[in-house]
Amino acid sequence: MTAIEHDVPSDLLDIADLGADGVRKSLDLASLNPRELGAPLAGRGAALIFEKPSNRTRHSSEMAVVQLGGHPVYTRGEEIGFDTREPVEDIARVMSGYHGLLAARVMQHQTLVRLAGAADVPVVNLLSDHSHPLQALADALTMEQHLGGLRGRGVAYVGDYNNVARSLAEVCVLLGADVRLGAPKGYEPDPVDVERIRGLGEGTVTLHKRPEEAVDGAHAVHTDTWVSMGQERDREERRAAFAGWTVDTELMERAAPDAVFLHCLPAYRGLEVSADVIDGPRSVVIEQAHNRMHAARGALAMLLGVEVP
Ligand code: CP
Ligand code: NVA
Repeated sequence: MTAIEHDVPSDLLDIADLGADGVRKSLDLASLNPRELGAPLAGRGAALIFEKPSNRTRHSSEMAVVQLGGHPVYTRGEEIGFDTREPVEDIARVMSGYHGLLAARVMQHQTLVRLAGAADVPVVNLLSDHSHPLQALADALTMEQHLGGLRGRGVAYVGDYNNVARSLAEVCVLLGADVRLGAPKGYEPDPVDVERIRGLGEGTVTLHKRPEEAVDGAHAVHTDTWVSMGQERDREERRAAFAGWTVDTELMERAAPDAVFLHCLPAYRGLEVSADVIDGPRSVVIEQAHNRMHAARGALAMLLGVEVP
């Protein structure tokens, strides 16, 4: 599905697809009891296709589909064989006949774009090399629960400017937050991407060459692995480049006194985050992981046309 003929986005490939209204609606629907959503997937399936491993995304999206009255069908990418067993477009057209939505975790974001171009039902990104929108919605839900609204709040992301960072920056700008991105040389955002994100909403984006600058006074501090799925060959080079970028207690002391620590997980203690921070009192990572299910349910309900009562 590609055309947007009404105020509900057709697909969720990136947070930017939702706009400020779509993000707000997804988060408001996420906060409702599932019984209030009216089972929009009743009698229908949801294809959940994974070309990469997953714990949170698989379990939270399967349960979100169940809570919306649907039947999740999990399939490993190699069984389906995007463009090896058959073309992506044939897969999209065939599956549109069985399911109320298609969702996929893919090696290449372009696979999602092609699925969305050929499917007759909404297509949802469960993580690509480019973005991780359902994660960002859970991040926003968690920060709102702890900080209230995000307007004018400082949200720091320290580390690799990757799929998680891009979607987080998008959702924060749409919600009016002040995003501080800190990354070492060679792993910082592309200036064109930063300008695009700045144009999405009322929030701001600033870039920082040192983790201390990014975190100074922030209300939320995020990080993610230095080695994303698919980058394993560069593990040692990446670890060397990120030396000194660990979110530890000393760094967290620079944040606001009520600041929370977030991480999408899986986390590597002693690398991007110290054990005392991720297992300490400011950490909200388990709530954040639990919010993956609520955020997914809200976003899927929004795509399926459910209105906030
Ligand atoms: N955060 C996240 O997407 O986790 P999984 O890779 O376990 O799904
Ligand atoms: N950036 C990480 C996120 C994992 C949930 C990756 O893509 O592997």
